[in-house]
Parts: sequence; C-alpha cells; structure tokens
Amino acid sequence: MTDSPARTAPSRETPWWRDAVIYQIYPRSWADSNGDGLGDLPGITQRLDYLKDLGVDAVWLSPFYRSPMADAGYDVADYRDIDPIFGTLEDADALLARAKDLGLRVVVDLVPNHTSDEHAWFQAALAAAPGSPERDRYMFRDGTGPEGAEPPNNWQSVFYGDGWSQVPDGQWYLHLFDTKQPDLNWDNPEVREEFHDILRFWLDRGVDGFRVDVAHGLVKEAGLPDYAGPMHLLGEHGEDEVVPEPSADHPVAPMWDRDGVHDIYRGWRSVLEQYADRDPILCAEAWVEPAERLARYLRPDEMHQAFNFEFLETHWRGADLTKVITDSIAAESIVGAPSTWVLSNHDVVRHATRLGYPPVGKRPNGIGADDPQPDAALGLRRARAATLMMLALPGGAYLYQGEELGLPDHTTMPDAVRQDPTYHRTAGAILGRDGCRVPMPWAKDAPSFGFGPSEQTWLPQPEAYGDLAVDQQDGVAGSTLEFYRSALRLRRELRLGLGTLSWLAGYPAEVVAFRVRSGAGGVQVLANTGPADVPLPEGAEVLLASGDLVDGRLPSDTTVWLRD
Ligand code: GLC
Repeated sequence: MTDSPARTAPSRETPWWRDAVIYQIYPRSWADSNGDGLGDLPGITQRLDYLKDLGVDAVWLSPFYRSPMADAGYDVADYRDIDPIFGTLEDADALLARAKDLGLRVVVDLVPNHTSDEHAWFQAALAAAPGSPERDRYMFRDGTGPEGAEPPNNWQSVFYGDGWSQVPDGQWYLHLFDTKQPDLNWDNPEVREEFHDILRFWLDRGVDGFRVDVAHGLVKEAGLPDYAGPMHLLGEHGEDEVVPEPSADHPVAPMWDRDGVHDIYRGWRSVLEQYADRDPILCAEAWVEPAERLARYLRPDEMHQAFNFEFLETHWRGADLTKVITDSIAAESIVGAPSTWVLSNHDVVRHATRLGYPPVGKRPNGIGADDPQPDAALGLRRARAATLMMLALPGGAYLYQGEELGLPDHTTMPDAVRQDPTYHRTAGAILGRDGCRVPMPWAKDAPSFGFGPSEQTWLPQPEAYGDLAVDQQDGVAGSTLEFYRSALRLRRELRLGLGTLSWLAGYPAEVVAFRVRSGAGGVQVLANTGPADVPLPEGAEVLLASGDLVDGRLPSDTTVWLRD
C-alpha cells in the first residue's frame, strides 16, 4: 500500500477525524479466538492487520463492557470492566497497543442513556426506598390510577411494549428500551460526574474517542408529559409516514432531542480537551431530523461527529440522494462541522440487502424466511454503487464490518435463534436486528467460515457467506474487498474527505453528479440510479467504477469516479 500525505500526523488545521474512515467492529461477530462461538478482544487484536490493509483510519468497537447481554451489551453492568465473553482489561490494553502500533485509532462505545438493571447502582436503587438518593439516579415515579397500578405516563419502549416497569414496592421505572435497561436521571449531578469519570477512565487507557449511544435521549422533558407520537429509532419508519408537525395536540417528543442534552456534551467536550494531544472525539448516535437539528450536536464546543442517518435512510433515487447530500452539507457548514456518512450498522438491514428491494416504502426492521426475499445481485450492485458515492463525499465515513465483503443480512434465519429484544417483546411480530449481526466469514473451507476455531457461532451464518469469505476475495480483481481497498486508497491519495463538493449540471435527475476537489486532486462522481445507461463525458479518465462500464457508458446502478 502506498503512503500518502494524509497518512502523516494531522496538523492543527486538519484534525484526524474530519475525513476519517472508521470501521465498526461488532465484537461478538468479528473474530472468535477461543472457539466459544462469540467474538472476543483477542480475536480482534489478531486481525487488526486486515484493517490496516483495508485502508481505514480507525475502528469503533460496539460495547465490550460487563453486561448480562439483554441487548447484546448495550445494557452495561460495569462501565470500567470487560465482559468475560470478550476477555479482560488486559486484552483491551493489548488491543489498544496493537492498534497504536499499526497507526489505527480506536473509538469505543459509550452507553449513557441507561445502564443494565444488573448495574450496582440499579441494584442499590431497588434495595433503597422510594425517594432515596439511590432511586434518584434513575427515573423512578409513582404510578397513576387506583393504588398507582398504572404507569406514570403513556410512554412506549423503542423495542415495543410499555416504557415503564413496576418494582415490588409499587414504584415504576422508565426504560426507553428493554425492561433490563433502566434510564438514568441526567438531572442528577452524581450521574453527570460519574460519566466524566468513565470518560477519563477510557481516555487514560488510550482510546481515541467515543461513539455515544442514543445521544438524543438523555434528557426528558420536565413533568414527563404523555406522548402519542412515533418512538422510531433505527431507521425503520417509512417515507410515506407523516410525522405531525409539533403543535398543542402533537407536542415534540418529550424524550428525544431536548435542548438540555447539549449541556451534557459541552461538559464532556471539556473533559476531552484535557487530552488534546490525542484529539479524541465524540460521535453522536442521534436519530434526529432535520439536518439543522442534528447540526446542533456539532457546535464547536460539543461533539465532533454525528451519524448522518437521514442519508442512510434515503432510498436509491438520484433526486432524493442529491437533496439529502445538499441539505446535510448546508446544515453542517453552518456550525463548521463535516458530515459523517454511513450506510450500514448493527441496527439496520445491511445496505447490500436493503438496496435489493424496490426503492419505495417502509424499511424493514429485520427480514425473515416468510418475507419477500431481496434480489441479492441487484442489492450488491447498488450497495457497491452507493458506497463509491459515499466515499467521495467530504467529511468522515463509517463502514460496518463485512460490508467490504458485500455481506447481505441473513434473511432466512430460523426464528428460534433470534436474540434481539425487539423480537421477544413483540412476540415475533417484528423480527429485529439479528440478521445484520451474523459472524464474519474469513475462510470458505474452515469451520464457522474461519470466524473461530470451532463450528460454533452465536448466530448461524448463511451459506452464501462462504463464497464471500475474505480468502475468496483477497487479491481477486473485481472482488468487493479489492474494490473497497481501491476506493479507500484513492480517497486517501486525493484527500477527498477534505475536499469541497460542487454539483455537475447536464445529467438527468436519476444521476447523482458532483465533483469533489481537494488540494491533492479531485474526482467527478456519477452515480446512476436510473434504468438507462448514461454516456461519460468525452475523454474521461476512469479512476474506479463500482461495476463494469458498457462501451464507455455508465450502466444502471453503477457509480464511477472520473479524474477531475
Ligand atoms: C442504540 C444502539 C442499539 C441499542 C440501543 C439501546 O440505538 O445502537 O444497538 O439497542 O441504542 O442501547
């Protein structure tokens, strides 16, 4: 791999994260070193070289903390320890050291909206009386109705069902997610202090930042008013669904995106400033629209990045993509922040599967054997096209493990193995997110496709993963893996993430057509979402294409980078 200027230490003007490509590792599913069927930290450490070769700048690790795993680790029982299924704190140190040697930064997941019900604080709250300081760290309330037998308000859980559960003495506690994920009370100074300390704990160990879980949910409106609007998160709402404008009848959601959250992040930013030599980051997982609201998380004294979920949610239609890119860049430039592009993660159907359906209607929350199946070839073709478009966009980008192999979701997984709390809370009516969390295939002919030394995998791998395994694609011209490597190399050489975007005229609306120029060069990007071939400009030099060009024309569902 060639070294390029962007690989050198960032200068003050260009902090590393502004154009970083960050690869999300879902630790349970990346590499299993001990054959128990669950990925672990030593497994990650052993395979970090693969990411160096891929050409990413950093990794983000989904939670590895001590947890009863009611929500795959997003239910944290101890923020300062590693769950035994993943390893030990020493394993975490070894991972950080190896990443540092390789020049890869490491971002960890922080889950501040809720703890596990098995966290020492929640256990203390249960043991203490109503009104006690222990209960005040969480959202305990008396019930309503005769003998307080009804919940304090009508809030629902994002994972469906009631947002409140009752404890033996009659009080109720709020959980916007699973019963086993009680919400913290962020009005309590002790909670704020504790999280400053947790930030310092991991910064002192050497991490380069935090992806902040449910960053828009921490502060709830005083009085906890009833709310009848949608609880959507995780990109499952449909484009045709009309979310009412806030009014007296339909107030804004009292649990999402309250102004008070910003104070919390200002406090965190000041903690991070004490580690300025490393320039650690905060990245918001905030399902907030429109882009102007999301941009508020990116004001100069708050977070550095916020996932652009509006982009992820946009269907494969040229005009819609052009609009979401335009709006995102405009909103974020007001606060001086770069956009943070993303197409897949552990909460949504992978884009190679999502894009294998017609570009209309509601996005599914999980796909099962009884559902219409995606067109896998079309999905992969469009996924490659979407990725090539994304990797040219100015700003940062996140990749989700396995997308560089073109992995689809497991869309015929037996229901009996599903683990997502959504599946269980809806008695199977909503399948949930297991399909995108299946263990990685590293080698076609090895047990568990090389995920670990045994046949065991915590979720079954679909047969199709064999041909997509790393060893089937490594060094194979035209493979999705080599395609990602080329795109990342060019992006780095041309410093596209630090470039400036302008739109190209003269193309039909189905074609997303823009140019990105940086001090190191530039590209013209044409992404054809329409049915008809599009001619390339006279004399164009093709740098990279997501699929074969036909007689110098750009076919349907293909993206090309031309030298600018
Ligand atoms: C975020 C995580 C998701 C988790 C939820 C509750 O949305 O990405 O996986 O279930 O928060 O912590």
